[in-house]
Amino acid sequence: KQAKSMALSDVMTRANDFYRHQLRSAQPAIAYLKGRGLTGEVAARFGLGYSPDEWDSLRQVFPDYENDVLVESGLVIDKSEEGGGHRKRYDRFRGRIMFPIRNTKGQVIGFGGRVMDGGEPKYLNSPETPLFQKGSELYGLFEARQAIREAGYVLVTEGYMDVVALAQLGFPQAVATLGTACTPIHVQKLVRQTDEVIFSFDGDNAGRRAARRALEACLPHASDNKTIKFLFLPKEHDPDSYVREMGAPAFEAQIREAMPLSQFLLQEIIGENDLRTLEGRAHAQFAAKPLLQALPASGLRLQIVRSVAQATQTTPAELEVLFELEKPVAR
Ligand code: GTP
Ligand code: MN
Ligand code: MN
Ligand code: MN
Ligand code: MN
Repeated sequence: KQAKSMALSDVMTRANDFYRHQLRSAQPAIAYLKGRGLTGEVAARFGLGYSPDEWDSLRQVFPDYENDVLVESGLVIDKSEEGGGHRKRYDRFRGRIMFPIRNTKGQVIGFGGRVMDGGEPKYLNSPETPLFQKGSELYGLFEARQAIREAGYVLVTEGYMDVVALAQLGFPQAVATLGTACTPIHVQKLVRQTDEVIFSFDGDNAGRRAARRALEACLPHASDNKTIKFLFLPKEHDPDSYVREMGAPAFEAQIREAMPLSQFLLQEIIGENDLRTLEGRAHAQFAAKPLLQALPASGLRLQIVRSVAQATQTTPAELEVLFELEKPVAR
């Protein structure tokens, strides 16, 4: 097949085949994955690969390395416009463990690449391309679909490694956002797959902030027939490290005890406010306003409004009047 007529999706598939093939003979990469407790079986299930630590290893797959479709794919970087450098084109991913990102049809649309030492950045992602929009794709969704149906819920994590490790350790119903915040489009995709979504972000501050963003992304899709929960791990853990260290039954217990959206929402609304003071109660109502305006009318919303009213010593009707004032034009 002529390189000129190569479609983006073919480029991605061929690159993935190359990276997977490279992993077989890359002893340090195999040792790295083994060191992280992964089996060859789970590596194969997720199509993990290795990008050689060379500037232009993709020439081996794409002899027509000058073809602009390679730049469009994000696999090759073209520096010719910036001038100065003697090297015009080079591979984006070099010396990294490669995680192919598939769409729901199973086509490879992008990659995440992890360094094996302390190098920076720790993870490098494909740039956005006509095939790949980060705000709407979830890592592992293609691989997890059957397991999500069987479990009746999906686990949403932050990281590639969380997804792969959880799959190996008995939780194949996990997906990850792609190093970006969870968006309403992600949530829409998730609630279309299943009735229960459980977020399990890292226990660190970044994970906590990610949970808050996820909460906001969930509000437009919260309804009475969907369950959304948040699982907060101890500070030093992410799902991968937690299951490895504490075991699958402990993680199952965490899943059972995950915090319902309503509880997390109330916690965020009340926050640091001292509800014994008038100002504290007013401030909580102020914090509640944008969050409750984002919640579509439902029994859930009614219950939450009632709880906020009670906590701030007003009536639900008074609160609704407050929320109606200066209502945003579009929701
Ligand atoms: P491991 O360290 O391999 O266990 O990965 P992790 O997923 O636990 O990493 P971390 O919690 O630091 O980050 C969570 C997710 O954020 C990663 O899986 C990546 O998707 C993304 N991420 C982390 N570091 C970087 C980075 O340096 N650049 C970019 N673009 N994304 C990153
Ligand atoms: Mn070479
Ligand atoms: Mn983290
Ligand atoms: Mn981790
Ligand atoms: Mn992590």
